[in-house]
Amino acid sequence: MTPKTFKIKSFGCQMNVYDGERMAELLDAQGLSPAADGDDPDLVVLNTCHIREKAAEKAYSDIGRLRREDGSKPLIALAGCVAQAEGAEAKRRSPLIDIVVGPQAYHRLPEMLAEASRGARPVDTDMPALSKFDAFPARRRAAPSAFLTVQEGCDKFCTYCVVPYTRGAEISRPWHDIVTEADALVDCGAREIVLLGQNVNAWSDDRRGLADLIRALAKIHGLERIRYTTSHPADMTDALIAAHGEVDKLMPYLHLPVQSGSNRILKAMNRSHSAETYLAIVDKVRGARPDIALSGDFIVGFPGESEDDFEATLRMVDAVRYAAAYSFKYSPRPGTPAASMEDQIPREIMDDRLQRLQARINEHQLAFNRSKVGVDTKLLIERSGRHEGQMIGRSPWLQSVHVETDAPAGAIVAVTLVAAGPNSMAGAEHQRAAA
Ligand code: 5AD
Ligand code: SF4
Repeated sequence: MTPKTFKIKSFGCQMNVYDGERMAELLDAQGLSPAADGDDPDLVVLNTCHIREKAAEKAYSDIGRLRREDGSKPLIALAGCVAQAEGAEAKRRSPLIDIVVGPQAYHRLPEMLAEASRGARPVDTDMPALSKFDAFPARRRAAPSAFLTVQEGCDKFCTYCVVPYTRGAEISRPWHDIVTEADALVDCGAREIVLLGQNVNAWSDDRRGLADLIRALAKIHGLERIRYTTSHPADMTDALIAAHGEVDKLMPYLHLPVQSGSNRILKAMNRSHSAETYLAIVDKVRGARPDIALSGDFIVGFPGESEDDFEATLRMVDAVRYAAAYSFKYSPRPGTPAASMEDQIPREIMDDRLQRLQARINEHQLAFNRSKVGVDTKLLIERSGRHEGQMIGRSPWLQSVHVETDAPAGAIVAVTLVAAGPNSMAGAEHQRAAA
């Protein structure tokens, strides 16, 4: 049977969200429509994440739950990084899967659907450079804050990480394609664009780097805000740092993962920076943009991590005073060098360290939020809040801010930040001039 309705569930990173949007547009162009809430779709695409074991296992438990009470099931496409990592093996693990499609093969989805409707179980985990982007239809929908992938893949080979294997080698989309897509997103309502890449600051085309791209995008009329994520410390160029001080539309927020504060562990992780060189970058960035909000990623319990190593990570958190940070227990991933390293850390120790790290991060997050109370700023309104008349917007520092306003999603409103919690802020809207 040819499917008529579909549902896409994306897990993991923002790039998966972006890929999910593009696949939806592709299916739309094939005449399929999104299933209404509560309706049973004919096709389910699980857009999966392989970064940690828990995320990968979730894909299989979700598949099991797609079987209907009468024993029938929708067409099931396993997409994303689990599909890439497992390939045909996925079909053996779950007989319910009809299609296995890796992140670089989405452009073949329509063909694969036709094959699956004829009873085949196609697998495509090829990695042809960038052809998927050419196959996607032009953008016709955008949220107030829209994602735009400019770079994919990773050549850094941190010893814990699957990304070089699931997303392939570092590759940059061409300048012209990105500008065209950005224009289209703004035309259909985006006020902010978040440039995405596994190593977004490694983006380059000819001799132009991310800083040049940001300066060009800043000229788009109607685009008010630009962000980018995720950056690697090794690619934090002087030009990009300077852009933070000079381009008004570039928001004062930088996600710059450090992973650990211990040089011994950073070395075993094959990170190309030390605690000191990372802190030197942070100083430079703050020199260019003193109010910048910094965020980071941390892994606790990497093989061989001692209590001293872990305490160096806590000192890193104190030294940077992160405005936000994400922390994870080390998860051994198949095929990565760290998975076979000696001295894997017991779960109880990881649990304890994660708790202590998160408590420390929360202190800094709350302190950052409190430091903004009383500040006049602007919010990009993104969606309605829980209460009547309440909307939720983002501050320039990416804080989630609740505000009473009749301004719709996509509006930019002037507020004073009036209260701070650990995860969100309250704002009071300034009187708006009568229209
Ligand atoms: N175990 C735990 N966390 C990991 N990350 C990447 N690989 C692993 C792993 N094997 C974390 C890193 C990275 C974030 C996206 O996920 O902190 O920056
Ligand atoms: Fe998960 Fe990494 Fe794949 Fe994103 S790129 S979905 S974080 S494994």
